[in-house]
Amino acid sequence: MNNHEIEELEFKSLLDLIKECYGYDFGGYAKSSIKRRITQLTLSEGHQYISELIPKILYEKEFLDTFLKGMSVTVTEMFRDPWIWKTLREEVIPRLRIFPRLKIWHAGCATGQEVYSMAILLKEEGLLDHSQIYATDFNNSSLEIAQKGIYPLREMRKHTSNYIESGGKESFSDYYTVKYDAVKFNDKLKENIVFSNHNLVEDNSFGEMNLIICRNVLIYFKQNLQDRALNLFKESLSPRGFLLLGDKESIDFSIISNDFVSVSSKKHKIFQIKGGD
Ligand SMILES: C[S@@+](CC[C@H](N)C(=O)[O-])C[C@H]1O[C@@H](n2cnc3c(N)ncnc32)[C@H](O)[C@@H]1O
Repeated sequence: MNNHEIEELEFKSLLDLIKECYGYDFGGYAKSSIKRRITQLTLSEGHQYISELIPKILYEKEFLDTFLKGMSVTVTEMFRDPWIWKTLREEVIPRLRIFPRLKIWHAGCATGQEVYSMAILLKEEGLLDHSQIYATDFNNSSLEIAQKGIYPLREMRKHTSNYIESGGKESFSDYYTVKYDAVKFNDKLKENIVFSNHNLVEDNSFGEMNLIICRNVLIYFKQNLQDRALNLFKESLSPRGFLLLGDKESIDFSIISNDFVSVSSKKHKIFQIKGGD
């Protein structure tokens, strides 16, 4: 066996153990990205070989959180890709007004900036009070940050310019208070948000959502796992519900491609489920 083959064996053994011991299955993730992240985690834990993580997985239960954190790409922004938020505001929100109550699911919400963006958008459109937002991720460390709604002050310059570009109607700084080098978003914004753990690899659908947002998550999945998640979204949408994906993601060639139509131009990645009239 050469070194490359040994490393492959270590990699496979580690993923098998994570699945066996904790039920997390990374088999459906793009291999190059997950391997790169495991190698980074090995180095940051002060080890040379991937297999040195195995005793931690077996004997240190709290290491699972570190492992999941290491596997998650948590990069996110408020009003990320502002032109998409503008389309949401101008073309989707008017169609959502017909529903007496709105249910919105952010799958893979990371540290929550996307969820607070949605709460702000709904507030400005007069819909927040009759909306219920579910914000989920499989990474508890990210969910804890999301729940607190406290972010570094240095991020606000970018967030503010995104907000303005997205068609924001108020003064962005009215939505948070600054303390030292951090900002805390107003608690009022999260009154209708439920943060909870949900794993797109194995957990079930959430029923009857009017809008599902899953952005920059499916890019890390192989086609089979993308299909599983997309099918879950299809099953979780109410008639005439909407699905919003990330800039580089698509339903083309997926298991649900015939069940949805594009809203606005295809580049906006906003889809509406067919039928239900
Ligand atoms: C790059 S972030 C995207 C954050 C946000 N949606 C955005 O676009 O700004 C990807 C998120 O997907 C989450 N994720 C990855 N695999 C997941 C899974 N199987 N179930 C739920 N969330 C997952 C990660 O923990 C991470 O928080």
